[in-house]
Amino acid sequence: MRKLAAGNWKMNGTAASLSEVAALLAAHPAPACDMLLCPPATLIARMADLAKGSALHVGGQDCHAKASGAHTGDLSAAMLADAGASHVILGHSERRTDHRETDAQVLAKAEAAQVAGLVAIICIGETEAERDAGRTLDVIGTQLAGSVPQGSRAETLVVAYEPVWAIGTGRTPTIAEIAEVHAFLLARLTARIGAEAAGVQLLYGGSVKPSNAAEIFAVPHVDGALVGGASLKAADFGAIVAALAAA
Ligand code: PGA
Repeated sequence: MRKLAAGNWKMNGTAASLSEVAALLAAHPAPACDMLLCPPATLIARMADLAKGSALHVGGQDCHAKASGAHTGDLSAAMLADAGASHVILGHSERRTDHRETDAQVLAKAEAAQVAGLVAIICIGETEAERDAGRTLDVIGTQLAGSVPQGSRAETLVVAYEPVWAIGTGRTPTIAEIAEVHAFLLARLTARIGAEAAGVQLLYGGSVKPSNAAEIFAVPHVDGALVGGASLKAADFGAIVAALAAA
């Protein structure tokens, strides 16, 4: 399977930030892995223009579950696709916290994204309190069952394991802990969508940076990363892309 280096710019970036994309493309014109950046929605069309004909894919960070209608401030999956997006991040822990998104809402958004032809990147992960209580697999299993559409095909789904306590903190689980979760994810995903699961890219996210990328990418069933802070700078994201391409 092709591996995926995905960057989540979160609420960062203006037109000036597109110079980082140009630098990334110049340094990595044809990497041996998939590359994706998910900028704020205001930059999707311009980034997609820049990326046209290159190895870089562009994605959104959320979408509405409905195709259109009276939902001020929201964007539909079809609108993201129309702007040039191929992927959309759904159920990121910041949305689950800031906007109280539930598994059921993430499921509905993922179905809408897949109908619109987007790849749904579904994020799941435990809080620190849940890990300390020994509930990690329990929590992840529930989120997966609640938010991954049952009929998902491999080419329309990516699952990102992002421990909430590792996001933006500089802390990461141990290699053994990541390995345990990813093996569990593959098993649960297989139970949910059958043989298609083997082709689904399983990403690790949470404080991935150039200095720890190679050891994380060596973990079985880690097919790439969802990178926040380190995706904002071409040099850092490029180093992570290079580590993945070499893995
Ligand atoms: P981080 O964020 O790499 O800055 O920890 C990861 C994410 O939230 O996707």
